[in-house]
Amino acid sequence: MTRDPRYDILFEPVQIGPVQAPNRFYQVPHCNGMGILRPKMLAAMRGIKAEGGWGVICTEYCSIHPSADDLPHPYAALWNQDHIKANALMTEKVHEFGALAGVELWVGGASSSNLLTREVPLGVSSMPDLSGNPYQTRAMDKKDIRNLRKWHRDAALRAREAGFDVVYIYATHSYLLSQFLSPLHNRRTDEYGGSVENRTRLVRELIEETKEAIGDTCAVAVRMAVNDGAGTSEQPVSEDRREMFEIMAELPDLWDINVHNYEREMSLSRFFKEGILEESIHYVKSITSKPVVSVGRFTSPDTMVSLIRKGTLDFVGAARPSIADPFLPRKIEEGRPEDIRECIGCNICYSGDSLGVPIRCTQNPSMGEEWRRGWHPEKIQTKGSDATVLVIGAGPAGLEATRALGQRGYKVMLAEAATELGGRITQECRLPGLAEWGRVRDYRVNQIQTMPNVDIFPDNNLNAEDALSIGAEHIVVATGSKWRADGFGRYHSEACLDLGPGDQVFTPNDIFKGRLPQGKVLIFDDDHYYLGGVLAEALAKQGVEVCFVTPENLVSAWGVMIDEQYQAQQRLLHLGVQIITAHGLDHFDGANAHLGCVYTERTQVVAADAILLVTARTPSDHLYHELAVQIDSDFPGSVPSLTKIGDCDAPAIIAAAIYAGHRYARELEADVKESDVRWSE
Ligand SMILES: Cc1cc2nc3c(=O)[nH]c(=O)nc-3n(C[C@H](O)[C@H](O)[C@H](O)COP(=O)(O)O)c2cc1C
Ligand code: SF4
Repeated sequence: MTRDPRYDILFEPVQIGPVQAPNRFYQVPHCNGMGILRPKMLAAMRGIKAEGGWGVICTEYCSIHPSADDLPHPYAALWNQDHIKANALMTEKVHEFGALAGVELWVGGASSSNLLTREVPLGVSSMPDLSGNPYQTRAMDKKDIRNLRKWHRDAALRAREAGFDVVYIYATHSYLLSQFLSPLHNRRTDEYGGSVENRTRLVRELIEETKEAIGDTCAVAVRMAVNDGAGTSEQPVSEDRREMFEIMAELPDLWDINVHNYEREMSLSRFFKEGILEESIHYVKSITSKPVVSVGRFTSPDTMVSLIRKGTLDFVGAARPSIADPFLPRKIEEGRPEDIRECIGCNICYSGDSLGVPIRCTQNPSMGEEWRRGWHPEKIQTKGSDATVLVIGAGPAGLEATRALGQRGYKVMLAEAATELGGRITQECRLPGLAEWGRVRDYRVNQIQTMPNVDIFPDNNLNAEDALSIGAEHIVVATGSKWRADGFGRYHSEACLDLGPGDQVFTPNDIFKGRLPQGKVLIFDDDHYYLGGVLAEALAKQGVEVCFVTPENLVSAWGVMIDEQYQAQQRLLHLGVQIITAHGLDHFDGANAHLGCVYTERTQVVAADAILLVTARTPSDHLYHELAVQIDSDFPGSVPSLTKIGDCDAPAIIAAAIYAGHRYARELEADVKESDVRWSE
């Protein structure tokens, strides 16, 4: 297939100072839970993106000195020769495919507590650690500033030695340099504080010194926001940012533009749609003649082209779209944009960094597995035999298993009890804000429909005999899970029997089926991820009076890992939902819910007409067990093989179901040993 000429503009080379990017696809800096801890995994992951056609590929935030340390969040580093070697693994991989490698030099300021290195954090002023640790910065004196400038210059020289082509001055995301720029944080009275010119001084000096050190061979980029943390998140202050851009307009070789509000920038699809920053960033190109890159969860080539034609951007910046589909540019280039595995804006990728473990992605099961399991996002080994595989259940695990088995060339039959495919995806993507999650289903169904070796049988509720009568050599059961209606979960370690009249007790499955509660509803969320909050939002928007109860101290507490928690709680407050934290549901009598405080013996009573329990799930594994019994008695030997995957095996996040389906497909009739996995690198 050939590329649609409408998209030609995306493949034009663009000059960035002394280097040339082969096209306009620019992977902006993003961390991944690997960083200094897992350089080989990291290099393999970035290399795959270069192979997939990204023209510029950047590191994550890369510390210039031990006084900028963010563990347990794994960052990259360029402190010494060992770090040069580690980063060179990445630049070599990136160069192998003709892409440019960028490095985002980073100084933490009040946002890094130096828990590994135990260096005193340096700050624009003496201020508390913004990540919540009980530390405070030392206000940098002139000597500290001189040291910082030297460290930055030395790190830039090491970056060049490591093979980087683009070197960043990182002046956003509340780290040290953005604190110097900020009228809110910068309270200095010397030449680095006060006026716009003074607050800009350090960034300007770093640009000039980096250019002087390496500017003949490397491009110098600046990442900076168009507005400031002063003001509110809806109405941030931006006037003096404009002045700053004007002062520095022509100094760097490239501007990487974002906004102060990280929730807007790394937008969840639940709250923001594609291209949300366009209006805020548009003016920057009118100030500078240098190329501009920015972001917006871009997955549509038409949107990308329009932003370039409108003169908003020169490069299409992407973090998450490149994670969900490292081959996005290649697919556009090869005239098959319908094959793009679009990011769904769930931010599970961000949880790796938050938790200090390697990245995972809901859409892309190979993300983070390129090195340790040798998985390639587009390539998979061909089938091990002419066997037929019966996949039962077309939720995320079943769909991904079918897709990948089909790609391997197996004859696959996919049976689904419901009339629609997608399982929990189809149910959940109808809830407020979750429409983009439907992409998990749509990508897979679209791929499967092009495969002549795959047959889909919706509306087919198989029992064990039906399944065995098909005669498939392999049966994989992916029948999902059901929400429990007995209160069992983290708060109640056994079923809670005292829950009142059954017709007043609801679970998410009831809501999915359209069985809705009447009157005032108390939601007991012992799951702590998105669903309790989203259901509260759905009901409140229908005019239902909702009381949200959680044993945690926050609404959707796990959302902290993915930048969702604050917005989730804010949304419920805006909708007038009553919120009771640090309480569990002890019992319900049909008129009142009796709540227990998690810290004390105190109780409280809340009037409610119905309760909605979001606590735990039961695997829907009856069919698997029936099959296991029949296979044991009627089929001596190893045929058919029987496996369960996804929520039907162990209920978890959607990313885990996709991973389970993919892994099953990869490992079927393949000689995969656990000892082959490179755990330690
Ligand atoms: C997993 C993850 C890690 C990130 N880490 C960094 C980082 O180290 N430095 C940085 O400047 N931005 C970081 N970001 C922000 C991205 O560069 C980008 O601005 C944001 O994700 C929006 O772009 P997108 O819609 O293309 O994902 C990160 C984003 C994600 C999703
Ligand atoms: S985890 Fe979710 S937000 Fe992150 S890249 Fe994958 S699909 Fe997109």
